[in-house]
Amino acid sequence: MAIDTPATRPHPVDPDCETAGGPTPVSSSAAMPASGAGSFPEMGMSTQAVHAGEPRQKAEGSISTPVFSASTFTFESTAALLRFVEGHDEREEYGRYGNPNEKSVERKLAALDAAESAILYSSGMAAIVGLLMSKLSSGDEVIFFDQCYHRSREFCVKHLARFGVKTHQVKTGDFEAMEAAINANTRMLISESPTNPHLTSIDIEQFVAVGKAHEVETLIDATLATPFNIRPIELGVDYVLHSATKYLGGHNDLLAGVICGSAEKLEPVRQLRGILGSINAPQNLYLLERGLKTFALRMERHNANGQAVAEFLNSHPRIEKVYYPGLPSHPSHAIASSQMKGFGGLITFLVRDADWRQTAKVIDAVKLPRIAPSLGGVESLIEQPLVMSYFNYSPEDRQRFGISDNMIRMSCGIEDTADLIADLDQALKVSLDD
Ligand SMILES: Cc1ncc(COP(=O)(O)O)c(C=O)c1O
Repeated sequence: MAIDTPATRPHPVDPDCETAGGPTPVSSSAAMPASGAGSFPEMGMSTQAVHAGEPRQKAEGSISTPVFSASTFTFESTAALLRFVEGHDEREEYGRYGNPNEKSVERKLAALDAAESAILYSSGMAAIVGLLMSKLSSGDEVIFFDQCYHRSREFCVKHLARFGVKTHQVKTGDFEAMEAAINANTRMLISESPTNPHLTSIDIEQFVAVGKAHEVETLIDATLATPFNIRPIELGVDYVLHSATKYLGGHNDLLAGVICGSAEKLEPVRQLRGILGSINAPQNLYLLERGLKTFALRMERHNANGQAVAEFLNSHPRIEKVYYPGLPSHPSHAIASSQMKGFGGLITFLVRDADWRQTAKVIDAVKLPRIAPSLGGVESLIEQPLVMSYFNYSPEDRQRFGISDNMIRMSCGIEDTADLIADLDQALKVSLDD
Protein backbone atom coordinates (compact mmCIF):
# COMPACT_ATOMS: atom_id res chain seq x y z
CA MET A 1 0.00 0.00 0.00
CA ALA A 2 1.46 3.36 -1.02
CA ILE A 3 0.98 6.01 1.62
CA ASP A 4 2.36 9.28 0.40
CA THR A 5 2.50 12.55 2.22
CA PRO A 6 -0.31 15.06 1.76
CA ALA A 7 2.04 17.05 -0.48
CA THR A 8 1.53 14.46 -3.20
CA ARG A 9 -2.25 14.80 -3.26
CA PRO A 10 -3.51 14.98 -6.81
CA HIS A 11 -5.77 17.97 -6.04
CA PRO A 12 -3.98 20.37 -3.72
CA VAL A 13 -6.21 22.19 -1.28
CA ASP A 14 -6.15 25.75 -0.03
CA PRO A 15 -3.66 25.79 2.87
CA ASP A 16 -5.89 28.28 4.68
CA CYS A 17 -8.66 25.69 4.89
CA GLU A 18 -8.82 23.54 7.95
CA THR A 19 -9.44 20.25 6.14
CA ALA A 20 -9.09 18.82 2.69
CA GLY A 21 -12.36 20.62 1.92
CA GLY A 22 -13.48 17.42 0.90
CA PRO A 23 -12.78 15.52 -1.47
CA THR A 24 -11.60 17.55 -3.98
CA PRO A 25 -9.84 14.26 -4.57
CA VAL A 26 -12.85 12.06 -5.05
CA SER A 27 -14.88 14.89 -6.49
CA SER A 28 -17.94 12.82 -5.77
CA SER A 29 -19.02 13.27 -9.34
CA ALA A 30 -22.26 11.65 -10.32
CA ALA A 31 -20.42 10.79 -13.53
CA MET A 32 -18.26 8.46 -11.52
CA PRO A 33 -20.19 5.21 -11.35
CA ALA A 34 -20.67 3.78 -7.90
CA SER A 35 -19.70 0.15 -7.90
CA GLY A 36 -22.71 -1.69 -9.24
CA ALA A 37 -24.78 1.45 -9.93
CA GLY A 38 -27.35 0.69 -12.60
CA SER A 39 -27.02 2.30 -16.01
CA PHE A 40 -29.69 1.74 -18.67
CA PRO A 41 -29.12 4.43 -21.32
CA GLU A 42 -30.76 2.36 -24.03
CA MET A 43 -33.92 1.73 -22.01
CA GLY A 44 -37.12 3.72 -21.58
CA MET A 45 -37.63 6.65 -19.25
CA SER A 46 -39.77 4.70 -16.78
CA THR A 47 -37.15 1.95 -16.49
CA GLN A 48 -34.47 4.56 -15.94
CA ALA A 49 -36.57 6.44 -13.40
CA VAL A 50 -36.99 3.23 -11.41
CA HIS A 51 -33.51 1.71 -11.72
CA ALA A 52 -30.86 4.13 -13.00
CA GLY A 53 -28.14 5.24 -10.61
CA GLU A 54 -28.92 2.69 -7.92
CA PRO A 55 -26.69 -0.26 -7.09
CA ARG A 56 -28.49 -3.55 -7.71
CA GLN A 57 -27.60 -4.79 -4.25
CA LYS A 58 -27.81 -2.33 -1.38
CA ALA A 59 -26.95 -2.41 2.33
CA GLU A 60 -28.62 -5.32 4.15
CA GLY A 61 -30.42 -6.25 0.92
CA SER A 62 -32.71 -3.25 1.23
CA ILE A 63 -34.57 -2.65 -2.05
CA SER A 64 -34.84 1.09 -1.40
CA THR A 65 -31.78 3.23 -0.72
CA PRO A 66 -31.36 3.41 3.05
CA VAL A 67 -31.35 6.92 4.52
CA PHE A 68 -27.80 7.76 5.53
CA SER A 69 -28.56 10.15 8.38
CA ALA A 70 -24.95 11.06 8.95
CA SER A 71 -23.32 14.48 9.08
CA THR A 72 -19.87 12.89 8.97
CA PHE A 73 -18.33 9.59 7.84
CA THR A 74 -15.70 7.73 9.79
CA PHE A 75 -12.33 6.33 8.72
CA GLU A 76 -11.10 3.09 10.23
CA SER A 77 -7.50 4.34 10.31
CA THR A 78 -5.15 7.08 9.16
CA ALA A 79 -4.11 4.78 6.32
CA ALA A 80 -7.76 4.66 5.16
CA LEU A 81 -7.96 8.46 5.40
CA LEU A 82 -4.80 8.81 3.33
CA ARG A 83 -6.16 6.44 0.68
CA PHE A 84 -9.18 8.72 0.46
CA VAL A 85 -7.38 12.06 0.32
CA GLU A 86 -4.99 10.68 -2.28
CA GLY A 87 -8.00 9.90 -4.44
CA HIS A 88 -7.74 6.11 -4.37
CA ASP A 89 -11.00 5.46 -2.52
CA GLU A 90 -14.38 6.70 -3.64
CA ARG A 91 -16.31 7.28 -0.42
CA GLU A 92 -17.81 9.98 1.78
CA GLU A 93 -16.05 12.27 4.22
CA TYR A 94 -18.36 15.04 5.46
CA GLY A 95 -22.04 15.68 4.72
CA ARG A 96 -21.56 19.08 3.09
CA TYR A 97 -19.39 17.47 0.40
CA GLY A 98 -21.60 14.50 -0.32
CA ASN A 99 -23.78 11.69 0.96
CA PRO A 100 -24.72 8.28 -0.52
CA ASN A 101 -28.37 9.35 -0.92
CA GLU A 102 -27.24 12.41 -2.84
CA LYS A 103 -24.99 10.36 -5.14
CA SER A 104 -27.75 7.89 -5.88
CA VAL A 105 -30.24 10.63 -6.87
CA GLU A 106 -27.62 12.60 -8.81
CA ARG A 107 -26.80 9.52 -10.90
CA LYS A 108 -30.50 8.93 -11.57
CA LEU A 109 -31.11 12.56 -12.57
CA ALA A 110 -28.04 12.58 -14.84
CA ALA A 111 -29.36 9.42 -16.53
CA LEU A 112 -32.83 10.92 -17.04
CA ASP A 113 -31.35 14.03 -18.68
CA ALA A 114 -28.81 12.04 -20.75
CA ALA A 115 -26.10 14.03 -18.97
CA GLU A 116 -22.69 12.93 -17.79
CA SER A 117 -23.16 14.49 -14.39
CA ALA A 118 -25.72 16.13 -12.10
CA ILE A 119 -25.41 18.28 -8.98
CA LEU A 120 -28.22 18.52 -6.48
CA TYR A 121 -29.04 21.63 -4.46
CA SER A 122 -31.45 22.46 -1.68
CA SER A 123 -33.80 24.26 -4.14
CA GLY A 124 -34.02 25.32 -7.76
CA MET A 125 -32.96 28.84 -6.80
CA ALA A 126 -29.95 27.48 -4.89
CA ALA A 127 -29.01 25.64 -8.11
CA ILE A 128 -29.19 28.79 -10.24
CA VAL A 129 -27.26 30.81 -7.67
CA GLY A 130 -24.68 28.03 -7.24
CA LEU A 131 -24.08 27.70 -10.98
CA LEU A 132 -23.86 31.43 -11.71
CA MET A 133 -21.70 32.19 -8.68
CA SER A 134 -19.31 29.48 -9.81
CA LYS A 135 -19.14 30.53 -13.46
CA LEU A 136 -19.17 34.34 -13.28
CA SER A 137 -16.67 36.93 -12.07
CA SER A 138 -16.73 40.70 -11.79
CA GLY A 139 -16.81 42.26 -15.26
CA ASP A 140 -18.61 39.28 -16.83
CA GLU A 141 -21.99 39.62 -18.52
CA VAL A 142 -25.00 37.32 -18.93
CA ILE A 143 -27.90 37.59 -21.36
CA PHE A 144 -31.29 36.07 -20.74
CA PHE A 145 -34.64 35.93 -22.45
CA ASP A 146 -36.99 38.15 -20.51
CA GLN A 147 -39.87 35.71 -19.85
CA CYS A 148 -38.67 33.82 -16.81
CA TYR A 149 -39.24 32.88 -13.20
CA HIS A 150 -39.26 36.23 -11.41
CA ARG A 151 -36.73 35.24 -8.74
CA SER A 152 -34.17 34.14 -11.37
CA ARG A 153 -34.51 37.59 -12.94
CA GLU A 154 -34.24 39.23 -9.52
CA PHE A 155 -31.06 37.32 -8.67
CA CYS A 156 -29.35 38.36 -11.91
CA VAL A 157 -30.53 41.95 -12.07
CA LYS A 158 -30.34 42.83 -8.38
CA HIS A 159 -27.73 40.59 -6.82
CA LEU A 160 -25.21 39.60 -9.49
CA ALA A 161 -24.95 43.34 -10.17
CA ARG A 162 -23.53 43.81 -6.65
CA PHE A 163 -20.64 41.55 -7.65
CA GLY A 164 -19.96 43.47 -10.86
CA VAL A 165 -21.81 41.10 -13.22
CA LYS A 166 -23.96 42.83 -15.82
CA THR A 167 -27.26 41.34 -16.98
CA HIS A 168 -28.90 42.00 -20.34
CA GLN A 169 -32.55 41.04 -20.83
CA VAL A 170 -33.73 40.53 -24.39
CA LYS A 171 -37.16 39.67 -25.74
CA THR A 172 -37.84 35.95 -25.49
CA GLY A 173 -36.99 34.19 -28.73
CA ASP A 174 -35.36 37.25 -30.30
CA PHE A 175 -32.05 35.69 -31.31
CA GLU A 176 -30.96 38.77 -33.25
CA ALA A 177 -31.26 40.88 -30.11
CA MET A 178 -29.40 38.19 -28.18
CA GLU A 179 -26.54 38.15 -30.68
CA ALA A 180 -26.43 41.94 -30.71
CA ALA A 181 -26.03 41.96 -26.91
CA ILE A 182 -23.10 39.52 -26.96
CA ASN A 183 -19.66 41.06 -26.44
CA ALA A 184 -16.22 39.92 -25.30
CA ASN A 185 -17.40 39.85 -21.65
CA THR A 186 -20.45 37.64 -22.26
CA ARG A 187 -20.15 34.36 -20.39
CA MET A 188 -23.60 32.80 -20.43
CA LEU A 189 -26.87 32.77 -22.36
CA ILE A 190 -29.86 31.83 -20.20
CA SER A 191 -33.39 30.81 -21.08
CA GLU A 192 -36.30 28.79 -19.84
CA SER A 193 -38.19 26.54 -22.21
CA PRO A 194 -41.12 26.62 -21.86
CA THR A 195 -41.13 29.87 -19.92
CA ASN A 196 -42.99 30.57 -16.69
CA PRO A 197 -45.81 31.70 -16.86
CA HIS A 198 -46.26 32.34 -20.60
CA LEU A 199 -45.25 28.84 -21.70
CA THR A 200 -43.15 30.10 -24.62
CA SER A 201 -40.77 27.54 -26.13
CA ILE A 202 -37.52 28.75 -27.58
CA ASP A 203 -35.72 27.05 -30.45
CA ILE A 204 -33.05 25.27 -28.44
CA GLU A 205 -30.94 24.28 -31.47
CA GLN A 206 -30.78 27.94 -32.49
CA PHE A 207 -29.96 28.95 -28.91
CA VAL A 208 -27.09 26.45 -28.89
CA ALA A 209 -25.89 27.64 -32.31
CA VAL A 210 -25.70 31.24 -31.09
CA GLY A 211 -23.77 30.16 -28.00
CA LYS A 212 -21.32 28.06 -30.02
CA ALA A 213 -20.81 30.75 -32.68
CA HIS A 214 -19.73 33.20 -29.97
CA GLU A 215 -18.09 30.64 -27.65
CA VAL A 216 -20.50 31.48 -24.86
CA GLU A 217 -21.97 28.79 -22.59
CA THR A 218 -25.72 28.09 -22.57
CA LEU A 219 -28.13 27.32 -19.73
CA ILE A 220 -31.69 26.08 -20.15
CA ASP A 221 -34.06 26.01 -17.19
CA ALA A 222 -36.24 23.08 -18.26
CA THR A 223 -38.26 22.89 -15.04
CA LEU A 224 -41.61 23.12 -16.86
CA ALA A 225 -40.66 20.58 -19.53
CA THR A 226 -38.74 18.01 -17.45
CA PRO A 227 -36.48 15.39 -19.08
CA PHE A 228 -39.63 13.45 -19.94
CA ASN A 229 -40.62 16.09 -22.49
CA ILE A 230 -37.28 17.53 -23.58
CA ARG A 231 -33.58 16.71 -23.15
CA PRO A 232 -31.60 19.90 -23.94
CA ILE A 233 -28.21 18.24 -23.30
CA GLU A 234 -28.84 16.08 -26.38
CA LEU A 235 -29.42 19.30 -28.32
CA GLY A 236 -26.03 20.68 -27.25
CA VAL A 237 -26.91 22.88 -24.27
CA ASP A 238 -24.09 23.14 -21.69
CA TYR A 239 -26.20 23.22 -18.52
CA VAL A 240 -29.77 22.11 -17.81
CA LEU A 241 -31.44 23.24 -14.64
CA HIS A 242 -34.57 21.93 -12.93
CA SER A 243 -36.41 22.98 -9.86
CA ALA A 244 -36.79 19.40 -8.60
CA THR A 245 -39.38 20.84 -6.23
CA LYS A 246 -41.77 20.53 -9.18
CA TYR A 247 -42.30 17.46 -11.40
CA LEU A 248 -39.14 15.57 -10.38
CA GLY A 249 -40.11 15.42 -6.70
CA GLY A 250 -43.69 15.47 -7.87
CA HIS A 251 -45.58 15.34 -4.58
CA ASN A 252 -45.54 18.94 -3.32
CA ASP A 253 -43.62 17.70 -0.29
CA LEU A 254 -40.00 18.77 -0.85
CA LEU A 255 -37.72 21.44 -2.29
CA ALA A 256 -34.65 20.61 -4.36
CA GLY A 257 -32.82 21.75 -7.46
CA VAL A 258 -30.45 20.13 -9.93
CA ILE A 259 -27.99 21.15 -12.63
CA CYS A 260 -26.98 18.64 -15.31
CA GLY A 261 -24.00 18.89 -17.65
CA SER A 262 -20.56 17.50 -18.35
CA ALA A 263 -18.48 16.30 -15.40
CA GLU A 264 -15.66 18.63 -16.37
CA LYS A 265 -17.78 21.78 -16.57
CA LEU A 266 -19.62 20.90 -13.36
CA GLU A 267 -16.55 20.13 -11.27
CA PRO A 268 -15.93 23.75 -10.14
CA VAL A 269 -19.66 24.11 -9.52
CA ARG A 270 -19.54 21.06 -7.25
CA GLN A 271 -16.52 22.44 -5.44
CA LEU A 272 -18.35 25.71 -4.73
CA ARG A 273 -21.45 23.87 -3.54
CA GLY A 274 -19.22 22.20 -0.95
CA ILE A 275 -18.46 25.68 0.36
CA LEU A 276 -21.94 27.22 -0.03
CA GLY A 277 -23.47 24.22 1.72
CA SER A 278 -26.71 24.46 -0.24
CA ILE A 279 -27.30 20.72 0.05
CA ASN A 280 -30.25 18.46 0.84
CA ALA A 281 -30.82 16.52 4.03
CA PRO A 282 -30.64 12.74 3.43
CA GLN A 283 -34.35 12.38 4.28
CA ASN A 284 -35.20 14.90 1.57
CA LEU A 285 -33.10 12.95 -0.92
CA TYR A 286 -34.89 9.75 0.03
CA LEU A 287 -38.21 11.44 -0.74
CA LEU A 288 -36.87 12.74 -4.05
CA GLU A 289 -35.63 9.28 -5.06
CA ARG A 290 -38.96 7.78 -4.10
CA GLY A 291 -40.82 10.45 -6.06
CA LEU A 292 -38.64 9.85 -9.12
CA LYS A 293 -39.66 6.18 -9.31
CA THR A 294 -43.05 7.24 -10.69
CA PHE A 295 -41.74 10.24 -12.64
CA ALA A 296 -42.49 8.91 -16.13
CA LEU A 297 -45.91 7.60 -15.12
CA ARG A 298 -46.84 10.91 -13.55
CA MET A 299 -45.62 12.89 -16.56
CA GLU A 300 -47.87 10.91 -18.88
CA ARG A 301 -50.87 11.99 -16.79
CA HIS A 302 -49.65 15.60 -16.36
CA ASN A 303 -49.23 15.86 -20.15
CA ALA A 304 -52.65 14.33 -20.81
CA ASN A 305 -54.39 16.51 -18.23
CA GLY A 306 -52.60 19.65 -19.42
CA GLN A 307 -53.60 19.10 -23.03
CA ALA A 308 -57.23 18.20 -22.25
CA VAL A 309 -57.77 21.06 -19.79
CA ALA A 310 -56.09 23.57 -22.14
CA GLU A 311 -58.37 22.46 -25.00
CA PHE A 312 -61.42 22.74 -22.74
CA LEU A 313 -60.47 26.26 -21.62
CA ASN A 314 -59.61 27.30 -25.15
CA SER A 315 -63.13 26.57 -26.34
CA HIS A 316 -64.86 28.10 -23.29
CA PRO A 317 -66.73 31.38 -23.97
CA ARG A 318 -65.63 32.83 -20.66
CA ILE A 319 -61.95 32.45 -21.46
CA GLU A 320 -60.20 35.17 -23.43
CA LYS A 321 -56.89 33.42 -24.05
CA VAL A 322 -55.01 30.23 -23.13
CA TYR A 323 -51.22 29.89 -23.03
CA TYR A 324 -50.33 26.22 -23.50
CA PRO A 325 -47.57 24.88 -25.79
CA GLY A 326 -49.79 22.05 -27.02
CA LEU A 327 -52.39 24.43 -28.51
CA PRO A 328 -51.90 25.46 -32.15
CA SER A 329 -52.94 28.98 -31.08
CA HIS A 330 -49.77 29.37 -28.96
CA PRO A 331 -47.22 31.43 -30.92
CA SER A 332 -44.43 28.91 -30.24
CA HIS A 333 -46.56 25.79 -30.81
CA ALA A 334 -44.57 24.78 -33.91
CA ILE A 335 -41.20 24.83 -32.19
CA ALA A 336 -42.65 23.20 -29.05
CA SER A 337 -44.10 20.38 -31.17
CA SER A 338 -40.81 19.82 -32.95
CA GLN A 339 -38.69 19.54 -29.81
CA MET A 340 -41.01 18.31 -27.04
CA LYS A 341 -42.58 14.91 -26.46
CA GLY A 342 -45.48 16.34 -24.46
CA PHE A 343 -46.34 19.77 -23.09
CA GLY A 344 -46.67 19.33 -19.33
CA GLY A 345 -49.37 20.23 -16.87
CA LEU A 346 -49.00 23.99 -16.54
CA ILE A 347 -51.59 26.24 -18.19
CA THR A 348 -51.96 30.02 -18.02
CA PHE A 349 -55.25 31.59 -19.09
CA LEU A 350 -57.12 34.90 -19.06
CA VAL A 351 -60.73 35.26 -17.91
CA ARG A 352 -62.72 37.28 -20.45
CA ASP A 353 -63.86 40.79 -19.40
CA ALA A 354 -62.81 40.22 -15.78
CA ASP A 355 -60.97 42.54 -13.42
CA TRP A 356 -58.75 41.10 -10.70
CA ARG A 357 -61.62 40.62 -8.21
CA GLN A 358 -63.79 38.81 -10.74
CA THR A 359 -60.83 36.63 -11.69
CA ALA A 360 -60.35 35.80 -8.02
CA LYS A 361 -64.01 34.67 -7.89
CA VAL A 362 -63.27 31.98 -10.46
CA ILE A 363 -60.29 30.79 -8.42
CA ASP A 364 -62.36 30.75 -5.23
CA ALA A 365 -65.11 28.74 -6.96
CA VAL A 366 -62.76 25.90 -7.93
CA LYS A 367 -63.10 22.86 -5.66
CA LEU A 368 -60.25 20.49 -6.62
CA PRO A 369 -57.10 22.56 -7.33
CA ARG A 370 -55.68 24.15 -4.19
CA ILE A 371 -54.74 27.82 -4.12
CA ALA A 372 -50.96 27.79 -3.82
CA PRO A 373 -47.77 28.73 -5.63
CA SER A 374 -45.63 26.00 -7.25
CA LEU A 375 -46.47 23.41 -9.88
CA GLY A 376 -45.69 19.87 -10.97
CA GLY A 377 -47.09 17.95 -8.01
CA VAL A 378 -49.78 15.28 -7.93
CA GLU A 379 -52.29 17.78 -6.50
CA SER A 380 -53.54 20.39 -8.97
CA LEU A 381 -52.75 23.95 -7.91
CA ILE A 382 -54.24 27.23 -9.04
CA GLU A 383 -53.16 30.85 -8.54
CA GLN A 384 -53.64 34.38 -9.75
CA PRO A 385 -50.10 35.67 -10.47
CA LEU A 386 -51.15 39.25 -9.67
CA VAL A 387 -52.06 38.28 -6.10
CA MET A 388 -49.41 35.58 -5.66
CA SER A 389 -45.90 36.10 -7.07
CA TYR A 390 -46.38 39.60 -8.49
CA PHE A 391 -48.30 41.25 -5.61
CA ASN A 392 -45.43 43.59 -4.74
CA TYR A 393 -44.75 44.64 -8.32
CA SER A 394 -45.91 48.01 -9.70
CA PRO A 395 -48.65 47.95 -12.38
CA GLU A 396 -46.02 49.16 -14.88
CA ASP A 397 -43.68 46.27 -14.08
CA ARG A 398 -46.54 43.77 -14.20
CA GLN A 399 -47.43 45.08 -17.62
CA ARG A 400 -43.79 44.85 -18.70
CA PHE A 401 -43.65 41.21 -17.59
CA GLY A 402 -47.01 40.39 -19.19
CA ILE A 403 -48.85 39.71 -15.93
CA SER A 404 -52.44 40.84 -16.46
CA ASP A 405 -55.10 41.26 -13.76
CA ASN A 406 -57.31 38.53 -15.29
CA MET A 407 -54.54 35.94 -15.50
CA ILE A 408 -54.83 32.53 -13.83
CA ARG A 409 -52.09 29.89 -13.71
CA MET A 410 -53.12 26.30 -13.13
CA SER A 411 -50.85 23.32 -12.59
CA CYS A 412 -52.74 20.17 -13.57
CA GLY A 413 -51.98 17.35 -11.16
CA ILE A 414 -52.70 13.69 -11.76
CA GLU A 415 -56.39 13.72 -10.86
CA ASP A 416 -58.84 12.24 -13.39
CA THR A 417 -59.09 14.49 -16.43
CA ALA A 418 -62.89 14.53 -16.45
CA ASP A 419 -63.00 15.63 -12.82
CA LEU A 420 -60.65 18.56 -13.42
CA ILE A 421 -62.66 19.70 -16.43
CA ALA A 422 -66.00 19.34 -14.62
CA ASP A 423 -64.63 21.34 -11.72
CA LEU A 424 -63.39 24.19 -13.95
CA ASP A 425 -66.68 24.09 -15.85
CA GLN A 426 -68.70 24.68 -12.68
CA ALA A 427 -66.25 27.33 -11.45
CA LEU A 428 -66.56 29.26 -14.72
CA LYS A 429 -70.33 29.44 -14.17
CA VAL A 430 -69.85 31.53 -11.03
CA SER A 431 -71.43 34.96 -11.18
CA LEU A 432 -68.80 37.64 -11.63
CA ASP A 433 -71.21 40.36 -10.49
CA ASP A 434 -71.01 41.68 -6.93
C1 LIG B 1 -38.93 27.83 -13.97
C2 LIG B 1 -38.48 27.86 -12.54
N1 LIG B 1 -37.17 27.82 -12.27
C3 LIG B 1 -36.71 27.84 -11.01
C4 LIG B 1 -37.57 27.92 -9.93
C5 LIG B 1 -37.02 27.94 -8.53
O1 LIG B 1 -37.16 26.69 -7.95
P1 LIG B 1 -37.31 26.48 -6.35
O2 LIG B 1 -38.65 27.00 -5.95
O3 LIG B 1 -37.16 24.99 -6.20
O4 LIG B 1 -36.21 27.24 -5.72
C6 LIG B 1 -38.95 27.97 -10.16
C7 LIG B 1 -39.89 28.07 -9.04
O5 LIG B 1 -41.07 28.23 -9.21
C8 LIG B 1 -39.41 27.93 -11.50
O6 LIG B 1 -40.72 27.99 -11.79
